[in-house]
Amino acid sequence: MSIKTATFNGVATIEIARPEKKNAITSAMYHAMAAALDAAATDPKVRAVLITGQPGIFTSGNDIEDFMQRPADGAEPPAIAFMRAMLGCDKPIIAAVTGAAIGIGTTLLLHCDFVYVSDEARLAMPFVSLGLVPEFASSLGVPELMGNVRAAEKILLGDPFTGADAVECGIANAVLPASEVVAHARRVAERFNGLPPGAVQESKRLLRRARIQAVHETIAVESEIFARRLRSPEAQEAFSAFFQKRAPDFSKF
Ligand code: COA
Repeated sequence: MSIKTATFNGVATIEIARPEKKNAITSAMYHAMAAALDAAATDPKVRAVLITGQPGIFTSGNDIEDFMQRPADGAEPPAIAFMRAMLGCDKPIIAAVTGAAIGIGTTLLLHCDFVYVSDEARLAMPFVSLGLVPEFASSLGVPELMGNVRAAEKILLGDPFTGADAVECGIANAVLPASEVVAHARRVAERFNGLPPGAVQESKRLLRRARIQAVHETIAVESEIFARRLRSPEAQEAFSAFFQKRAPDFSKF
């Protein structure tokens, strides 16, 4: 199983565990994460959720093979169920970014309540270089957090950035040594055992209330364009180049 889940001491942990493919997320993994989030949201024993990866890799984002095989049948993309579950979880979500966080590995952080990043981590949103467009409301959240010009570096050019950059622009709380990041995130999650859960959850809803409709609307707009881009010759060239371990050639477009 490439998603491991466990609940211990009030914390539901969702661990992305597919290291042989750099924790690339398949449809089945999105569904497993969505189910784990939904279960955590309703389980009274759970006070907070911890999302983590493997040493050196948080996630390399959506599985690119899955992208290539996505049928053009208009079915709901598997990532959408995961996004909906994250946005619907009123319990605090804490991310321990154990290493590289690419694509949705970075955009999901915009929807966590606490983000702790390993000092070895690199974040990136290389949607454009894959012939795609931003997802998970990152086209809304990234410019809001860091301003248009820095958002353009990260989204139009896909420039990677460090954990320290993520802290500076408000995506993350702190950078920690790689060996400490999960334990630190867990300690923060466990603090919710000592707080009144009703007040925590109502407060989280209030913190997000003013933006939540715009987030859902943005996801709907992005995903329509994203689905079309997935079938584009630009994206197909980018995906083929990735698996052939060569540079893509966009000169013909
Ligand atoms: N989807 C599918 N397979 C992936 C993957 C992804 N997102 N990321 C990595 N893999 C696979 C590779 O194809 C490779 O498989 P193989 O061993 O069968 O050849 C294996 O995981 C190891 O990846 P590799 O690229 O050799 O590791 P690396 O340490 O050199 O680089 C990354 C790690 C994460 C920087 C690099 O794999 C990468 O850039 N991945 C793609 C990121 C991306 O564009 N994600 C989509 C965002 S929308």
